[in-house]
Amino acid sequence: MEEFINVEEKAISVAEAIITRHSVREFSQKAIEQSVWDELLNLSKRAPSWKNSQPWKLRILQGKSKNKMAESLVNAAKAGPPSPENPWPENYPADAKRRMFDLGMKIYGVAGIDRKDKAARDQFMLNNFKFFDAPAAIFITTTFDLNFYVGIDIGCFLQTILLSARALGLGTCPQAALGAFPDVVRKELELQPEEKVICGLSIGYPKEESQLNRYHTPREPLENMVQFYN
Ligand SMILES: Cc1cc2nc3c(=O)[nH]c(=O)nc-3n(C[C@H](O)[C@H](O)[C@H](O)COP(=O)(O)O)c2cc1C
Repeated sequence: MEEFINVEEKAISVAEAIITRHSVREFSQKAIEQSVWDELLNLSKRAPSWKNSQPWKLRILQGKSKNKMAESLVNAAKAGPPSPENPWPENYPADAKRRMFDLGMKIYGVAGIDRKDKAARDQFMLNNFKFFDAPAAIFITTTFDLNFYVGIDIGCFLQTILLSARALGLGTCPQAALGAFPDVVRKELELQPEEKVICGLSIGYPKEESQLNRYHTPREPLENMVQFYN
């Protein structure tokens, strides 16, 4: 299985996982069973990477360690601005800014937050650092020098986790926010200084009957992003 994969069998659940995956921001308190973790992680590690370099490490928090980390991250977020390993991008093309604005409007809308209510928006933002009350949080770290290609590898890995999780009935929210305070994460988990905290995700079974989870983001029509050349 490790060395040989039969690609003649159709992977019929992939399309369904892609179509039905979306960011989940309300979770049930049901813990993730160890057998489900094992399956999720064994699937996820099949992600491709540059020359099979596999630049990722996963730090998985549940229970007390997750709650303690949430407390430290919330305190850090209240105390000052983020200091991620690489500066977060600031300049976006106008059409991307429109999509990002639209996302904010829609999410605040379903969360019942008035967009002009900055205190409520800030409070909502802090939910990121509480892992949206998910039963588990995953931090993705690397000891590799950060560059564009390591970023692509980790992106492939992240998406493989998200889709595998969906196939197993789990919900996820990928979060750049979890890379906002790498020093805090390193301190809490007693990591070596060379282990960089890139991003993370909240993971668990989605809360049923959640308005927030019901919102699905739109995508641009193909003609805005694809050009065939014959
Ligand atoms: C690299 C990356 C970072 C993200 N960071 C956050 C985050 O910090 N907080 C959050 O609530 N959502 C975050 N998201 C989720 C996006 O907002 C979401 O994927 C996007 O709006 C599309 O919606 P969907 O995932 O429901 O399809 C992130 C997604 C990606 C891929």
